[in-house]
Amino acid sequence: MNFTVSIKDRDEPISVEMGRTILDAAMLAGGPFPHSCRSGNCGTCKCRLLSGEVEMSPFSEFALSADEEKRGFILACRAVPWSDCEIELADEDDQMVHPMRDMACEVKAITPLTHDIMSLRLSILSGGPFTFTPGQFADVALPDQPARSWSMASQPDDDFLEFYVRILSDGRASRYLADHLQPGDQVRVKGPSGTAALREERRGPILAIAGGSGLSPIKSIIDRAAKLGWAEPVHFYFGVRDERDLYLVDHFEGLCAAHPHFHFTPVLSAPSDAVLKAAQRRFGLVTDIVKEDLPHLSPSGTLEGFTAYLAGPPPMVEAAERLLPDLGIAPNAIHADAFYSEA
Ligand code: FES
Repeated sequence: MNFTVSIKDRDEPISVEMGRTILDAAMLAGGPFPHSCRSGNCGTCKCRLLSGEVEMSPFSEFALSADEEKRGFILACRAVPWSDCEIELADEDDQMVHPMRDMACEVKAITPLTHDIMSLRLSILSGGPFTFTPGQFADVALPDQPARSWSMASQPDDDFLEFYVRILSDGRASRYLADHLQPGDQVRVKGPSGTAALREERRGPILAIAGGSGLSPIKSIIDRAAKLGWAEPVHFYFGVRDERDLYLVDHFEGLCAAHPHFHFTPVLSAPSDAVLKAAQRRFGLVTDIVKEDLPHLSPSGTLEGFTAYLAGPPPMVEAAERLLPDLGIAPNAIHADAFYSEA
């Protein structure tokens, strides 16, 4: 038995098989539907239930607050319809509209960036052209592997796609990438997706915070801002554990030299003794360092008017989501992509 889910202001309703989530059905139907973690943790798939009944499986309070729930919001990745429904997508203005592509790509290069992060560079063989907004991601399926959501580090007008991928010891797809994938192999890429992407029309100061492979979308965002001649300050904090986890430092230092109002601050949370003694870096949690730097970020002592982009491990992203409204950034100007790992 199937239920019909209509999306306000969209022509095609979705047919949802009993027991499936609205997001699953929307993805199966091939239409664009905002999503990221697919596990009730990020809030990207938030929408308002206008009519009908759904059952929600457990989700994080960061994705959907009790207040939002009371106001009728649901998470499409957690909501299983029990009747025909009508929903309205949240923040329709903030959705990135690019055609969804399902592309065959060829591996051009696989390059280690740190001891556990690799760059995967692809060229598109068929199914393009592919456009996206910097900060978005795509689902990448390596040969005979489950698809994984990886963010583009490249620019929309580059003639290649690049992803920075953390190699997880128990990660099926990432281990395959590290141990077996070769230049010349073919992979499938479906996308783009995600809403934690650069708002080009919202000119103003930017605060970007990345951790680990979260550098991928943040690099795309910052490079794009540089390309656009962003006139307002851009502050980028890159949090990692130790010196060996840093990468692309030269790239960002070069960018700051060329654009004096761009600022790059690497932060080490668990430095080795030798690094600690050399003391050329900032040490601690990246969110504590942002708080400490508030007087430099804004002499007025508030980050009102800033737009924030966050990407990386969930504890870092969640800590920043808690902190930034206290520092004056409007909640709707905080765009976050927490990387939930899939084995
Ligand atoms: Fe539904 Fe992340 S995609 S909460």
